[in-house]
Amino acid sequence: MTIFSSLYGEFSLQRYPATSDPNLQAWEAADRYLLHTLADRYSVLPDGATVICNDEFGALTTALHLQEPWVWNDSALAHQAIANNYERNSLTSSWSALPSIDDMPSGTPIGLVLIKIPKNLSLLEDQLARLAKVVSGSTIVIGAAKAKHIHTSTLTFFERYLGETTTSLAKQKARLIFCTPTKKIGLSSVESPWPKTFAYDGRPVSNHANVFSHRKLDQGTRFLLEQMQRNNWASEAATAIDLGCGNALLGLQAISQNSALACTFVDRSYMALDSARRNVVQWFGRQEPHQFLLGDALRSVDGKQRLVQDGSVDLVLCNPPFHDNHVMGEESARKMFTQAAGALAPGGRLVVVANRHLHYHSVLKKLFTSYELAASNKKFVVHSCQKV
Ligand SMILES: C[S@@+](CC[C@H](N)C(=O)[O-])C[C@H]1O[C@@H](n2cnc3c(N)ncnc32)[C@H](O)[C@@H]1O
Repeated sequence: MTIFSSLYGEFSLQRYPATSDPNLQAWEAADRYLLHTLADRYSVLPDGATVICNDEFGALTTALHLQEPWVWNDSALAHQAIANNYERNSLTSSWSALPSIDDMPSGTPIGLVLIKIPKNLSLLEDQLARLAKVVSGSTIVIGAAKAKHIHTSTLTFFERYLGETTTSLAKQKARLIFCTPTKKIGLSSVESPWPKTFAYDGRPVSNHANVFSHRKLDQGTRFLLEQMQRNNWASEAATAIDLGCGNALLGLQAISQNSALACTFVDRSYMALDSARRNVVQWFGRQEPHQFLLGDALRSVDGKQRLVQDGSVDLVLCNPPFHDNHVMGEESARKMFTQAAGALAPGGRLVVVANRHLHYHSVLKKLFTSYELAASNKKFVVHSCQKV
């Protein structure tokens, strides 16, 4: 069932990237609740720009397409999902993809802000602090999420950065947040505390709010960094990929071990790639000869092109994504492994760190001619695979 019915019309919606799990839809009860309430309360939507934050597959954006909204997302794949769903429904009105690292265009009054509350409260805090610079007392702000994802701290952030905040009753396990900005437009003096920096090996690692493990070094990453130091896989490589790079620590370590290495950093997250670029410049003084690419694993964001030539890379380093939804985490990881196998030159190596309960060795053994369990501890394993 791909038809999303709302008081603004019916739309055929699909997830992007596609998933094999038939239970996963491209919208949730919170989207429907929000749109229903909006239509109920406002027969005419407010003048001024409409801003939609964190619309993962475009349920809100397609329903409100006549508003020609700006859509603020951290995942380039979410923007692609929206573009695909516009095309699927032959919508001709325009919308503007706003990467999470860009600020709202100033100068246009904002009438309506709809926020799908992210699970990562740091991202919410960053977005609210930056929204506070551009909303006015007459901007209507409504948040929506699964009720279980709305905590006292969520409401505290709304109060701190924007103004008086109330919540709705829960409906189909979803809840809404209503906020009345009390600040005058552009006068908020409270700055976003992001990006923040932590130290690794005595060197600064900068992290935007939505970067994986943005407050401190992840234990899995730490374990792989230790194995990289021990095995020195980077020493003989000319080219490497940090696949799903986050703040880029794996690539930073590889370049530190081999200054002649050219590394390609890939992530779907605008914040991750920007943090990666900042960290490379901070550590090595310049970004060249390294590359920073948005992508879906090793394909372009629209899935149509390879980011690197097949058979061209010596080393791929990967701490694959894991997700609340087990199927999705595994699907993304498998995609990364399969595409890494294609990208590697003969003799090239893929090194993966993963939780030990994820049995990736059987997938990897099928994709590679040579497989080795390079290291393991109580929580993690490091797989090393080669193409002969
Ligand atoms: C577990 S984190 C690892 C981050 C970093 N390498 C580290 O070890 O700290 C996985 C990363 O993969 C990225 N990611 C998830 N799905 C992706 C996809 N389909 N294509 C590209 N990157 C993806 C996430 O944004 C995240 O930065």
